[in-house]
Amino acid sequence: MSKRIRLAVQKSGRLQEASLKLLRECGIYIENIREGQLMVPTQNFPMDILFLRNADIPRYLEDGVADLGIIGENLVHEEGGRLPILKRLGFSKCRLSLAVPNEIEFNDRNWLNGKNIATSYPNSVQKYLDQHKLKAEIHYISGSVEIAPRIGLADAICDIVSTGSTLFQNSMKEVEVMLKSEACLVSSPLMDAELKPTVDKFLFRINASQLSKNSKYVLLNAPNHKLAEIAQILPGMKSPTIIPLAEAGWSSVHSVINENAFWEIIDQLKAAGAEGILIVPIEKMIP
Ligand code: PRP
Repeated sequence: MSKRIRLAVQKSGRLQEASLKLLRECGIYIENIREGQLMVPTQNFPMDILFLRNADIPRYLEDGVADLGIIGENLVHEEGGRLPILKRLGFSKCRLSLAVPNEIEFNDRNWLNGKNIATSYPNSVQKYLDQHKLKAEIHYISGSVEIAPRIGLADAICDIVSTGSTLFQNSMKEVEVMLKSEACLVSSPLMDAELKPTVDKFLFRINASQLSKNSKYVLLNAPNHKLAEIAQILPGMKSPTIIPLAEAGWSSVHSVINENAFWEIIDQLKAAGAEGILIVPIEKMIP
């Protein structure tokens, strides 16, 4: 029996729901999560899920208690990059930014010299200050950082910004983006080599799932004399599938297209004579 991976995910917070969704998309199911449960085994994959406080996950990974973790890149950065990133997961995108009250005239980062900065990310702020040869006081606060300027605790803050609504509600503005972040799968530096095949299997499933999200299956009808031109527009995974229709002189063309180029490709297909275009989501994609 293969050794089980211990994967740390947030017990609450912005990454939890999407992390569990990712597991489901990889065919890894967890049943009956009870309130307050710390460890839950998965049913059909050699993996146990550890539900931990976000800020504690790096420690558990560094100590080898957890083998893998899903955390924000901002936390990896805060921990000095000691946790290897295996995969950027494409969700919970946000920025680690400096913000100041709206009324402040912030022309450049030299304004920060001699100021107080409140943050839950002291190492990242110190690194930024050192990088730009700035000197400022850092006040560590574990939460609700955005109220610090209003209560006179700080002149500026450094915090996660996603939609920007927290800053807006607190009459603050983002003045410097220090880091662009998204959820990442990270590993413990002490991970047992015996687990590698299972980790590779997990990564394979994540890749297949991510690939399918960025792609669409396209079906269309085209007159045979237009097929060469249409095949040029639709390269597919290898080349498009072409099936003759019952109506003489016509074929059905099937292929896969990239979500980002979607509308541009559809315009080109229509211009090339494609008709009856159907676009279908892809459940999984194995290259
Ligand atoms: C983060 C951050 C802000 C908020 C920003 O908190 O500390 O409070 O999100 O998001 P917005 O730009 O979409 O408003 P989070 O919700 O992760 O919880 P936390 O307060 O526990 O850090």
